Amino acid sequence: MSVRVAQRFAGVERSATVALLETVQRLRREGVEVLDLSGGEPDFATPSPVVTAAVTALRDGETHYTPSRGVPELLEAVAGKLAAENGVAVDPERGVIVTPSAKQALFTALMTLLDPGDEVIVPTPAWVSYPAMAGLIGARAVAAELRADDGFRMSRRMLEERVTGRTRVLLVNTPANPTGHVLDREEAEEIVAFAVEHDLALVVDEIYEKIVYDGGAHLSLASLPGAAERTLTVNGFSKAYAMTGWRLGYLAGPEPLIAQALKVQEHTVSCATSFVQRAGVAALTRTADDVAAMLKEYAVRREMTVAALNALPGVTCALPEGAFYAFADVRGTGLTSAAFAQRLLDEAAVTVAPGSAFGPGGEGYVRLSFAASREVLEAAAERLTRLAGGWAADAGARGN
Ligand SMILES: Cc1ncc(COP(=O)(O)O)c(C=O)c1O
Repeated sequence: MSVRVAQRFAGVERSATVALLETVQRLRREGVEVLDLSGGEPDFATPSPVVTAAVTALRDGETHYTPSRGVPELLEAVAGKLAAENGVAVDPERGVIVTPSAKQALFTALMTLLDPGDEVIVPTPAWVSYPAMAGLIGARAVAAELRADDGFRMSRRMLEERVTGRTRVLLVNTPANPTGHVLDREEAEEIVAFAVEHDLALVVDEIYEKIVYDGGAHLSLASLPGAAERTLTVNGFSKAYAMTGWRLGYLAGPEPLIAQALKVQEHTVSCATSFVQRAGVAALTRTADDVAAMLKEYAVRREMTVAALNALPGVTCALPEGAFYAFADVRGTGLTSAAFAQRLLDEAAVTVAPGSAFGPGGEGYVRLSFAASREVLEAAAERLTRLAGGWAADAGARGN
């Protein structure tokens, strides 16, 4: 007997980065000392005010369903944060849903906006789950390839080339995974003008908003004139507060859209975990020093990682403006991104994500996460230097 699975899985691959994490876990169980730079997981402990808030909530018996949108205190904290930090006004009671992860918020946003057959424009290289989520809904992700020469900036012209009668949504990620690009005002204005002209919704993933370097500033698209009524802002606690395992995020935007999105939440997960929501309030209100300390450390690691990459023959890497990934151009090694990543794994037990996993424009690059300790980064740099010495010798022997 063979049971048929739904057509929607055609063309939807497993998450390349989750698969890499599983490889790392398996190799470690087998005793291999893997240095993992493939994931998107802060190595820091979750700040203690967050842990304390969750423990207190557990002890106080907050272990039951909450309202689907979330507990009022967290909804207030999210709306307050959006107003104060992002210049985005939402009604805490009707304009926010607290979700179990940013991933879930994104899925809910796309489910709310896309019918089967509709198209969402995804600027690439992009995080692996965007096209997969569209596919699971029966919609189609249309890649708009960004160029390294333009600093991976979007332009109105490249977006216009991708729009069709089926386009409903433009998905924006800033600061961006994997490129590290941070949206600037001119680019943001072009995006909003494009969305208004074609009457598109904007889904904006701001999960790396706290991780911006060199005094740069994160800009929320929903704060631009004309954007709020068509923008769903997605954010989460995983990256800024080192809370990957807690699974907490949120979706904010116009009330008519949030009213529909709430149905997705109600009929799937009901609500985010009760005591984790209490932890979320603490994260938003009592961790400013922890967040600043993590950013300072990421900044040091960014310099270390990029310098080590630029010292490798055939590899060049620009300093990312935000997030915690180095997106290195490895074309000079003569290897594809998958071959490069595989050799690092096989010959040096270092895991990185091949750029090809991030869609058009990703080939020729690899993504290294520097959300790992300095010791791990130094050890990885040493292994890479040794390995790259061998490549240079091989290339020399081939006469190129
Ligand atoms: C761009 C981007 N959005 C969303 C997520 C998912 O975050 P969460 O852990 O809240 O699901 C990630 C995680 O890697 C990410 O890189």
